[in-house]
Amino acid sequence: AFVNKVRIVEVGARDGLQNEKTVSTADKVALINALSAAGLKDIEAGAFVSPKWVPQMADSADVISALDLPDVNLSALTPNLKGAHAAHAVGIKEFAIFTAASESFCQKNINCSIDESIERFSEVMAFAKANNIRVRGYVSCVLGCPYEGEIDPQAVLSVSQKLLDLGCYEVSLGDTIGVGTAKKVTQLIELLLTHIDKAKLAVHFHDTYGQALTNIYAALSLGIATVDAAVAGLGGCPYAKGASGNVATEDVVYLLQGLGIEHGIDLQRLSDAGWEITKVLGKQPVSKVSVALHTK
Ligand code: HMG
Ligand code: MG
Repeated sequence: AFVNKVRIVEVGARDGLQNEKTVSTADKVALINALSAAGLKDIEAGAFVSPKWVPQMADSADVISALDLPDVNLSALTPNLKGAHAAHAVGIKEFAIFTAASESFCQKNINCSIDESIERFSEVMAFAKANNIRVRGYVSCVLGCPYEGEIDPQAVLSVSQKLLDLGCYEVSLGDTIGVGTAKKVTQLIELLLTHIDKAKLAVHFHDTYGQALTNIYAALSLGIATVDAAVAGLGGCPYAKGASGNVATEDVVYLLQGLGIEHGIDLQRLSDAGWEITKVLGKQPVSKVSVALHTK
């Protein structure tokens, strides 16, 4: 059954912009402020990762320092203790750690095995607990991997449980390369729900094959209440060749509106925020809803 209220985690400033051409710190700050003004309460604002690996996120500390949004839960990626320290130094209250259900993807993305990633994260978790910071976990490649192809749902279950056992309050299920279809989403989530409370699961679907919104609908129908999305469908993933952006937040909001599910977001302001940042990038929003609203 559907929930009455869905929480949207806006990842455009991180997952989106990490795979677009580099934009200025000021443009990132303006984007995050516009997203907040549109009503978003959970905003992933940057990544404390190696600037050699992802130069687009190198100014995350400056971006976050320039924000003054006491009502917003700002989060950031922290793959290791170095990242955790840097995020804490600028006042981040929610870390995101990230691993994968695929060994090959994990190696390419964070340069270690899945088990090694969990070991690294236990240090991050200890630091987070000591500083009253909550931690979200991501699992990449839950519906397929660019290197390994099919992924066993049992592998997703196993790594999700490890993240929850570590102390993550929630696990976000990443269809990193957007290959999943609704039947697979249903089967995966039904399996996970036999072991994990639905309140601890989020979906994070990229739209490479145009299935994200349908897949979100499938997840919502099983009672999932948290959806990751990126304004204007920004981005992709630098370690997943050909991956396109996340599902557009505008499209998710429109879907929720139609379903009568509460979301707390002003669609017009959200769409305007998408047009502003895509103007900077020299492109148009990858959101049918946003384009339709704009040309109405
Ligand atoms: P490594 O090379 O194994 O780490 O990288 P290392 O500890 O050996 O350090 C190597 C160098 O990186 C050193 O610098 C460190 O200081 C530096 P050098 O001595 O060479 O000058 N370094 C750092 N610098 C800044 N911040 C840090 C940090 N850590 C080390 N935190 C590491 C390991 C994880 C750091 C690296 O592999 C990395 O940064 N990877 C980037 C991964 C990434 O950002 N991927 C994209 C985000 S994940 C994603 O998009 C998927 C998701 O959206 C879900 C989905 O869609 O599936 C979440
Ligand atoms: Mg992603």
